[in-house]
Amino acid sequence: MLTLLQINTGIHGPASMSSILADEIAEAFSNRFSGTNHIKRDLGEDPIPHLDQATFESFSNPVSANVSAFPDELALSDKLISELKQADVLLIGAPMYNFMIPSTLKAWIDNVARAGETFRFSETGPVGLLSGKRAILVIAQGGEFLGTPADLQTGYLRMALGLMGITEIEFVYAMGLAMGPDKAEAGLEVARKKIAELFGPVPV
Ligand SMILES: Cc1cc2nc3c(=O)[nH]c(=O)nc-3n(C[C@H](O)[C@H](O)[C@H](O)COP(=O)(O)O)c2cc1C
Repeated sequence: MLTLLQINTGIHGPASMSSILADEIAEAFSNRFSGTNHIKRDLGEDPIPHLDQATFESFSNPVSANVSAFPDELALSDKLISELKQADVLLIGAPMYNFMIPSTLKAWIDNVARAGETFRFSETGPVGLLSGKRAILVIAQGGEFLGTPADLQTGYLRMALGLMGITEIEFVYAMGLAMGPDKAEAGLEVARKKIAELFGPVPV
């Protein structure tokens, strides 16, 4: 049985295009791999607190950081990491907000990228501890920035997941979503074609 961890991050609730596409991928994935264990978080609806000093200190030194004062934050990070460790496939819906990923997704990354848990330091630099997992990243953009200096999402997500050893990544781009109905429709068509290539046709 495969475990799929889905992280939606769009702020538009059920109208979030990145979430709609990520949901379609989750459905196609579950149809393809029956019995999939599907863990889903919607950070748009249920955001994760940004990392602060006390929480960060509790990651590396629970005793001196007086963890008893911050049990919830440490427990949340432990839970998020446990979900990620369980996952065979990580699916993220990531809209572009102000040229970057949503801040809630950055907060999730700050909580799961923990030395000693998901990567370790070495004399040659960090070594990821989660190799063998695959990731599918949906990138939804109002404009069309793939391949331009304004596409800061692709490189950042590769680096952040790569830090933890997740290097097998498929990107699904839906672009031009705020450039009028024709462009938006074309952008969604490109995304759904890519999803169909990965998992077969998406039921509409
Ligand atoms: C706060 C905010 C900032 C945005 N910034 C950008 C941007 O920098 N570049 C871009 O191409 N689109 C931008 N957009 C448009 C979204 O990327 C686009 O509408 C996308 O479909 C949003 O995905 P969602 O529906 O899952 O939220 C922005 C949208 C919002 C709400």
